[in-house]
Amino acid sequence: MQPHDLPTMINLAENVHEDYPEDDAIFAERLALYPQGCYLLSAGGEPCGYILSHPWAYAKPPELNCLLGEIPSAPDTYYIHDLAILERGRGLGAGAVITDKIVAHARSEGFDNISLVAVGGSNPFWAAQGFGEVVIEALTPKLRSYDDTAAFMVRQL
Ligand SMILES: CC(C)(COP(=O)(O)OP(=O)(O)OC[C@H]1O[C@@H](n2cnc3c(N)ncnc32)[C@H](O)[C@@H]1OP(=O)(O)O)[C@@H](O)C(=O)NCCC(=O)NCCS
Repeated sequence: MQPHDLPTMINLAENVHEDYPEDDAIFAERLALYPQGCYLLSAGGEPCGYILSHPWAYAKPPELNCLLGEIPSAPDTYYIHDLAILERGRGLGAGAVITDKIVAHARSEGFDNISLVAVGGSNPFWAAQGFGEVVIEALTPKLRSYDDTAAFMVRQL
């Protein structure tokens, strides 16, 4: 993803994540802080999804719609902030392919785990990509602020 892709990416986010709105500044900051973790996905030459990810602190998922400020100097997890694909681009394997690419990147950077908050009932997709739920009681209020089934999920690398 390049800075000039942001309007396209934001339009995709508005379409896929009606229930989890975030300000434009949130996306711009992720891309500025860690461009190597951000990809725009396309199908048939048309933009159809994106992923945003970055190094972070384990078990401290950022609140929804929250700026990061900076990447921690000693990150101990590689964090997937969001993977979103328009309905017409789903079921083609794109989610699995970009997850594999991000996992390989995290490994090459020396991380021993990759984590995320699964929202919108995406838990089975993440389980199919090798992620398992890790229950941390202190996180429950934050997870419930996303939705009823939101889960903290981790894949060891
Ligand atoms: C979740 C999402 C990213 C999956 O992307 P996708 O490109 O459709 O998934 P893929 O085609 O790569 O599927 C990979 C595997 O996961 C399975 N899978 C995909 N979505 C699934 C779901 N909702 N439940 C169960 N399994 C699912 C597929 O069947 C496939 O399994 P297979 O390899 O055995 O055939 C996409 O549906 C999406 O953007 N959803 C809305 C936004 C969202 O919820 N994002 C996650 C936020 S944490």
